[in-house]
This record gives sequence, structure tokens and C-alpha cells, in this order.
Amino acid sequence: MTDPTDLLAAIAAAPDLATLDAVRVAALGKAGSVTALMKTLGAMAPDVRLIEGPRLNALRETVTAAIHQRKSDLDAAALDARLASERIDLTLPVSPGPAGTIHPVSQVMDELAEIFADLGFAVADGPEIEDDWHNFTALNIPETHPARAMHDTFYMAQGGGVADEGAGPPRGTVLRHLLRTHTSPVQIRTMLKQPPPIRIIAPGRTYRSDSDATHTPMFHQVEGLVIDRGIHMGHLKWTLETFVKAFFEVDDVTLRLRPSYFPFTEPSVEVDVGCSWAGGTLSIGGAESWLEILGSGMVHPRVIAACGLDPDEWQGFAFGCGIDRLAMLKYGMTDLRAFFDGDARWLRHYGFKATDVPTLSGGVGA
Ligand code: DAH
Repeated sequence: MTDPTDLLAAIAAAPDLATLDAVRVAALGKAGSVTALMKTLGAMAPDVRLIEGPRLNALRETVTAAIHQRKSDLDAAALDARLASERIDLTLPVSPGPAGTIHPVSQVMDELAEIFADLGFAVADGPEIEDDWHNFTALNIPETHPARAMHDTFYMAQGGGVADEGAGPPRGTVLRHLLRTHTSPVQIRTMLKQPPPIRIIAPGRTYRSDSDATHTPMFHQVEGLVIDRGIHMGHLKWTLETFVKAFFEVDDVTLRLRPSYFPFTEPSVEVDVGCSWAGGTLSIGGAESWLEILGSGMVHPRVIAACGLDPDEWQGFAFGCGIDRLAMLKYGMTDLRAFFDGDARWLRHYGFKATDVPTLSGGVGA
């Protein structure tokens, strides 16, 4: 095809890049029609070439320009088609919808962190594989103390060792590894790590060899610790009252402090919260009935001394509380074992939306 009109018409009509390229090769390729015409220039008489040269060059340029133009038109059309077919509407809800929820234990931990942050408490943590010095000895639970057995401890078959120089157990102490039976060793680790004043909570996993509807071998506790000068039971009571009010979202809260015994506090108290069971459902508030929610007390001077602090200068209070139990009371679950079964139906029912971030202003866990 050497008629310029036909060629330009074929270029303009090429429906896609492949057809256009075939037209290009047929015209401008090594064996193309326009290339063949160009080759005839050499054999022409000079006066004919003078006229035919510019004409054929112009033809080649026109064809080249037309191919360029068609190619960019086809490219633009292809891009438009792709943009139209790949368009997504970002305002549509995510498909197939949100999967997964926040576990009630995580939700309660976030609520605790939020409430106590407002009171100036930082969040601290410690290892779940502990040694018996941090878990027991430093907390005034010596080797022979019955509380060691009371705790139904999971001891490690191997590991442990002998303490060397440094903060913590005296040099030469034989250490046995275990799964921590409570979050109280975080009190010790925090006091060894940072100078007072201290205000921390330590939520985390704890382990005891126990299993029934209200006990699982792994469970969660939150520890609280305040160390400063001149701390007394009044500070403890106010802090716990403020916490319980914020957590259960009720203003009418009565706390009952019952004398108790923990080796690491003196005096020690168990704290009950007033509640009622109207129509079989629990509501927090009033003083009709009592629910035990936590253990606490003034940090024993021996515990303060074990962490290298002078108990005449520094005092404090501590508390420890089961997080799973708090979740059960607040959100109405009855069997603790279901918490750790990983049953998706349970999680869908009791779980929280990822966007339900607890805030004091928005209501913790509302
Ligand atoms: N560690 C105790 C337990 O697991 C709970 C506890 C009681 C913690 C009194 C404390 C406390 O900090 O002061 O049973």
C-alpha cells in the first residue's frame, strides 16, 4: 500500500496497538512500501530525484507522525478504559465486613491502662518465666512459707542458676525458674529498675496449676504499685475507689476493706465492692451484697528493703486483681474457660470492635 491516503486511513482506523504496529511494519519496515519507494531514489535521474526526494521524505514523515499520533490516542484510550474499570469507591464499607474482634481481656487491659494513666500511673511489665527470688523470696515469701505451695506453682524442670553480682538476688542465691504465679514480681523488678517515686500498673499473664469454671491454668492479673514518701491507707482507698467508679461506670460505689493476710503487705486487706443481684443480674453499687474484687495493702518494709530502698524513708501500697474476673463481672460472662477456647462464635458475641478504643471521656468500654 503506497497510496498515502490509504496508508493514513489504515493508520487512523487501526483499532489497537498490534494492528497499528503491523501497518507501521508494512509501510516503514525494512521491506515496507514506503521504504521501497525511498530505495528507488538512488536510481533516479538527478532532476527527477530533486522533485521526488522531498516528496517521498514528506510522505515518510507524514506517515511517521500519523503513527505517533494514533499510538498516543490508543494509549490514552487504553489508560481511560483501565481507570474506568479499576475505579474503587473508598466510601463503600470494607468487604466482606470487619472480621475479628478485640478479646474482652485485651479490652479490659486497655480500660485499666486508660483509667490509671489518668491518675499518673505508667504501665510496667516483667517476664512470664520468672525465678523464685522475684516471684517469692523478695516478696517476703521465704522457701519454707506455705504460700509457695498455695500458689500451685509450675516449676521449670530445667534452667535457673546462681545469682551473680548486680541488683536483685544476693550473689550466690540459687534461682529456680517458674511460670510467674502472680504479677507481684513486677513490683520487685520495677523497684530495682527505677528510683521512687513509683506509680505503675502491670497487667499480664499469670499461671497456676488449677482448672474449673472460675480457674484456668493461665489467667490474667493486674498489679498496682505506688512508692513514695508519706503514703498511707487513705491513698490506697481513694485510688481503689476512683478506679472502681471509673471501671464500672457508677458513682455510687461502696468499698469494704476486710483485714486479710498477704506476705508482701502489712497491713493487708481484701477489698469487696458493694453490689446487688436484682432479678438475678448483678449491678455494682449500693451495699446490699458484697463481691470480692482484689487484694491489697501497704507494701511490707521487708519487700522495700529487698529492693535496696530504705523502708523508713519510702512507703507504698500495692494491689493485685484478676483481670478475667473483672471482665466477667463487667460484661456478664459466666465461665472463665470460654475465654481461652478460641471459639469464634464466643468472640463474635463478647468481642469488641477494633474501633471501640476506651477513653475516659467516651466511657471506658461503653
Ligand atoms: N499477688 C496476690 C495473688 O496473686 C494478689 C495481691 C494481693 C497482690 C495483695 C498485691 C497485694 O499487690 O497487695 O493472690
